[in-house]
Amino acid sequence: MSEQEQPAIHKGLAGVVVDTTAISSVNPETNSLLYRGYPVQELAADCSFEEVAYLLWHGELPTDDALLVFEATERENRPLDPTVKRVIDDLPLTAHPMDVVRTAVSVIGADDPDAEVSTPESNLGKSVRLFAQLPSVVAYDQRRRQGLELVEPHEELDYAENFLYMTFGEVPDPVVVDAFRVSLILYAEHSFNASTFTARVIASTLSDLYSAVVGAVGALKGPLHGGANEAVMHVFDEIGTADRAEEWLDAALAEKRKIMGFGHRVYKNGDSRVPTMKAALDALVEHYDRADLLELYTTLENAMGERKNIKPNLDYPSGPAYSLMGFATETFTPLFAAARVTGWTAHVMEQLASNSLIRPLSLYDGPAERHL
Ligand code: SDX
Repeated sequence: MSEQEQPAIHKGLAGVVVDTTAISSVNPETNSLLYRGYPVQELAADCSFEEVAYLLWHGELPTDDALLVFEATERENRPLDPTVKRVIDDLPLTAHPMDVVRTAVSVIGADDPDAEVSTPESNLGKSVRLFAQLPSVVAYDQRRRQGLELVEPHEELDYAENFLYMTFGEVPDPVVVDAFRVSLILYAEHSFNASTFTARVIASTLSDLYSAVVGAVGALKGPLHGGANEAVMHVFDEIGTADRAEEWLDAALAEKRKIMGFGHRVYKNGDSRVPTMKAALDALVEHYDRADLLELYTTLENAMGERKNIKPNLDYPSGPAYSLMGFATETFTPLFAAARVTGWTAHVMEQLASNSLIRPLSLYDGPAERHL
C-alpha cells in the first residue's frame, strides 16, 4: 500500500460503526436512548429493574406470568454463594471493590459446572444468576469493610429494595428506593461502551459468558468509564463548598485535568440520561435536606459549561445520589457493574449468536525489517 493509500486510523474506534445490535440505540442527534425500542425515560418512570432486565435479555417486556417466574428465579439465586463468601473473606479490605466484584464473577464461573455450556438457555441462566448474586457481593463487601456482618437477602422484597436492605440492614424510605431503582435502569445498558465492547470481544472468540463479564468489570473500573461516578464524589469532597467550585475548576483545568462526570464520547449535547437521574437526585436532596450539595453540583456544572461547554454525563448526578443514599464512595462503581451486568450479558448472548470473531487491523509504525 503506497504512502498515499495509507488507511485512515480511527483511534479509540471513535465514530466507527463495527456491528449492529438490537439491544439499544444511543442517538446523539435526537439525544435519546432506547432499550429494545422503548425510551429509557419511560422505562425508568414505569418499570421495575426486573422488568427492564427481562426486556434486555428477551427483547420484550415480560407478561405478568413470565414476570412472576423470573422474579421467583432471581430471588432463589440471591443468597451469597458460600464459596464466593469464603473467597471475599480472604481478600484484604484494601482490595479495590471492583477487584472484589471481578473476583466474585470469576469464582461464580469457576464454581458453575455448566460454565462451558454455551446454549442460549444456559447463558440466560448464568445471566440471571449473576444478576441475582452481584447485589449480595456488593452489599456484603461494603458491610465487611465497615466491620458489619452479612445481611441475608429478604425474599419478600423486590430487587432494588433487597439490594438496599442487604447493604444497610433495613429498607429505606420509598424516595430512596425509587431513586436507586431509577439509577439501576439508567445504568443497565448503553450499546458499545468500552466495557460492553470488551465483553463482546471476549464472547466473539466463543469464550464463556463469565470470562466476558470478568473482562467487562475490568474495563468498567477505569475512571474514564465507570470509575467516574466514584471520582465525581472525590471531586465534591476535594472542593468542599459551592463558593470554592470555580477556583477549584480553574486550577484543575489549568493542570489539564479531565473533570470527572463531564463529557461523553457519543453524546455531544448532553447525556440523555442526566435529566432523569438529576430529578432523582433532586428528590433525594429534598428528602435529606441537602441544598448545600445541590448548590455545589449546580455551581460546578455551570462553571464547566461556561469554561469548556462540556455537559455532565450520567456519572455526575449518580455520584452524589449514591452518597446521599448512604453507599460508601468506593461502592459506587460496583453498583454500576451490578446494573450493567444485564446489558453486558445481553450483548454477550447477541455476539455469540452472531458467531463472528472481532479482530481489527493495525498500521505498523515500528522499525523497518532488519536482521540479527
Ligand atoms: C461513561 O461510552 C459510554 O456510553 C460510557 C457510559 C456508559 O453508560 O457506558 O456513558 C459511561 O463512561 C460516561 C463517561 C464517564 N467518564 C468521565 O466522566 C471521565 C471524564 N470524561 C472524559 O474523560 C471524556 O469526556 C470522555 C473520556 C468521557 C470522552 O472523551 P472523548 O470523547 O475521547 O473526548 P476527548 O477526551 O478527546 O476530549 C475532547 C476535548 C479535549 O480537549 P482538547 O484536548 O481537544 O482541547 O474535550 C476535552 C478534552 O480535554 N474534554 C474534557 C473532558 N472531556 C473532554 N476536558 C475536561 N474534562 C472533561 N471531562
